[in-house]
Amino acid sequence: MSSGFNDELHSLTLSEDGSYTAFSKEYDEHYHSTKDGALNESLVKHVVPAFSVTDKDEINILDICYGLGFNTLATVVYVKENFPNKKINIYSPELDASLIESLPKFTYPKEFDGLEDIIKCLSESNVYTDEQFHIELFVGDAREYIKQFNDKFDIVYQDAFSPSTNPILWTKEYFADIKSTMKEEAVLTTYSIAFKIRLALYENGLELYTNSGKDYRTATVASAKELDKFDRVDMPHKISCNQDIMSLRDGDI
Ligand SMILES: C[S@@+](CC[C@H](N)C(=O)[O-])C[C@H]1O[C@@H](n2cnc3c(N)ncnc32)[C@H](O)[C@@H]1O
Repeated sequence: MSSGFNDELHSLTLSEDGSYTAFSKEYDEHYHSTKDGALNESLVKHVVPAFSVTDKDEINILDICYGLGFNTLATVVYVKENFPNKKINIYSPELDASLIESLPKFTYPKEFDGLEDIIKCLSESNVYTDEQFHIELFVGDAREYIKQFNDKFDIVYQDAFSPSTNPILWTKEYFADIKSTMKEEAVLTTYSIAFKIRLALYENGLELYTNSGKDYRTATVASAKELDKFDRVDMPHKISCNQDIMSLRDGDI
């Protein structure tokens, strides 16, 4: 299918919830789970669980990484519908400048109708602001970008390509920097349930929780605070049963 959307590096794939995602020829991986669906995955693995345990009038979100922008855009739709009085600030790094430039040509789901201004503004100037939302994209390396923030974020969407494809965004040292960006009460959401990834989060002082439901593969929520809404993973027990498994380290890559 030719859409004019960054065709040299990406092809469009229709995912099972009816929304399109992209396949990256560079990373040899889809941007979303084609089975769980691009829009559905954003909502059920990131936006809904994060907002279910974050009760503030103003919320700062770190969206790792912007990609096609589903997590940021799904947040805008979800917040407009459910929390019209909350102020939301989203900060999102993305390495691929040409991807961001091409996004106005992407075939987004109808749920994103009305967000054309935001998509265009972010694509052209990497920033969008209105009374309710402030969104900033950083075109560059997420590892460098996150070092400037301390105690800033209420929510982190950890949505890099998979640990085997993009390990530099899943190491213990990376999560140490992520933890520094998070407020004490903050939550991190990720699709990964790999033990070595959960271990890297746990070794940085975060407790792990299971995010499961009937229409998606199980995912993870991590937080230093107690979360009653999710089942806690018994990490001490799992560690004692998997003593040969180590968290991913920068030095291994
Ligand atoms: C799985 S996609 C993100 C999907 C996105 N959250 C969405 O909803 O569409 C991963 C993205 O990470 C970007 N990326 C890879 N390495 C990066 C790095 N070191 N810093 C910033 N972005 C990076 C890729 O270009 C890709 O767009």
